Amino acid sequence: MKIAMVGSGYVGLVSGACLADFGHDVTCIDKDPAKIERLQAGIMPIYEPGLAELVAGNVKGGRLSFTTSLAEGIDGAQAIFIAVGTPSRRGDGHADLSFVYAVAREVAEHLKGPAVIVTKSTVPVGTGDEVERILSEAGLPFPVSVVSNPEFLREGAAIGDFKRPDRIVVGAEDEFGRQVMQDVYRPLFLNQAPLLFTSRRSSELIKYAANAFLATKITFINEIADLCEKVGGNVQDVARGIGLDNRIGSKFLHAGPGYGGSCFPKDTLALLKTAEDYDSPLRIVEAVAKVNDSRKRAMGRKVIEAMGGAELARGKTVALLGLTFKPNTDDMRDAPAIAVAQTLQDAGVAVVAYDPEGMEMAAPLMPGVRMVGNAYEAVTGADAIALVTEWDAFRALDLDRVKALVKAPVLVDLRNVYRPDEVRAKGFAYTSIGRA
Ligand SMILES: NC(=O)c1ccc[n+]([C@@H]2O[C@H](COP(=O)([O-])OP(=O)(O)OC[C@H]3O[C@@H](n4cnc5c(N)ncnc54)[C@H](O)[C@@H]3O)[C@@H](O)[C@H]2O)c1
Repeated sequence: MKIAMVGSGYVGLVSGACLADFGHDVTCIDKDPAKIERLQAGIMPIYEPGLAELVAGNVKGGRLSFTTSLAEGIDGAQAIFIAVGTPSRRGDGHADLSFVYAVAREVAEHLKGPAVIVTKSTVPVGTGDEVERILSEAGLPFPVSVVSNPEFLREGAAIGDFKRPDRIVVGAEDEFGRQVMQDVYRPLFLNQAPLLFTSRRSSELIKYAANAFLATKITFINEIADLCEKVGGNVQDVARGIGLDNRIGSKFLHAGPGYGGSCFPKDTLALLKTAEDYDSPLRIVEAVAKVNDSRKRAMGRKVIEAMGGAELARGKTVALLGLTFKPNTDDMRDAPAIAVAQTLQDAGVAVVAYDPEGMEMAAPLMPGVRMVGNAYEAVTGADAIALVTEWDAFRALDLDRVKALVKAPVLVDLRNVYRPDEVRAKGFAYTSIGRA
């Protein structure tokens, strides 16, 4: 099948490359000429494990190509995916749908034959109705169906997630839409991935409800971690103790500096705005967003406390290890490291940082933070170290070498990567999350 993917970012590029790998003929479209030029030259615009090889293989096989021209890219496509960004709208927190609607209008202008328009971007309930309205206003003389197909992949594990999903959700209102989506995903349900058909509105809501639920789980364990610190418990034991209950499950129960990334912060906010518009408050999600928001700066204060308080910390230097919102990505959107660094800088603390993949994206978001080439360089002369992102490289740090390089052996582990007894035995003053 010929497929067009409009938007070649984290979701569009991975989805396009995977669909090509299933044997479809895929054109990835992006309005950013620099991105398309890089892709055409075989250079990945983002860091995602395995992506460069997947793209190269499918380009070579003639199943994957790139263009800036939407008219050219959608020509003859039976399925046209919209995978553009839906960031928080400045000022009010609603999802900014201007990119999605701009694509819908451009598709309406250039479409030459029957096609299914698939919203893969995360969009609020009712967006599919508006996309349909835009297309129907164009008075196209052939059938067009608008379906919702939210994406659940995780950055850092995106290819595996796309190819072996827990489920595929399709919100379709007619048989044409359902049929084409069945053909798109046929290679996957041969692998038994459940294909769940719902109404378009339910499908749109499923994505937000899923993210809000996961954000709630993270925030829940973060607050339990705070309580553990007060009562002398160990949050990792508590998480294991509750997670082994199948009704709860062990995933998303890792205490840390608060959720970040390109999805949870903006999606919880957008869901709250939808709830407000429909006069149906989601008070649990409201609390989650608020708690998570204040947690990030609290983590900066935790580092200051570990240094002996604000007065002692002023004028000193903290080394941040890891900046991205999680390992194996270069994505810095809403990363807790930004708020941690800002809190430190506000208290007159200098910040030096190292991240294996995120420094290029981080630099413009973290003015005044000195980026260096590796972890050992970062800790050299530091008065404290804060581990913010649990990259594998930091798990295997030579702590004896680190100890010899720092000015003061203060280690704040915001991801509970290290074992307290081991680190303390090496002479570090060690603080982690929710563990005595
Ligand atoms: N990143 C994730 O992990 C993830 C996971 C699931 C869902 N989502 C959702 O998927 C959507 C895309 O997210 P992303 O992280 O891939 O965003 P992104 O910013 O990485 O990519 C979006 C791309 O769309 C392009 N674009 C914008 N307008 C365009 C237009 N008119 N024509 C062609 N291209 C255009 C941009 O240039 C950009 O390259 C969002 O709605 C997001 O919420 C993201």
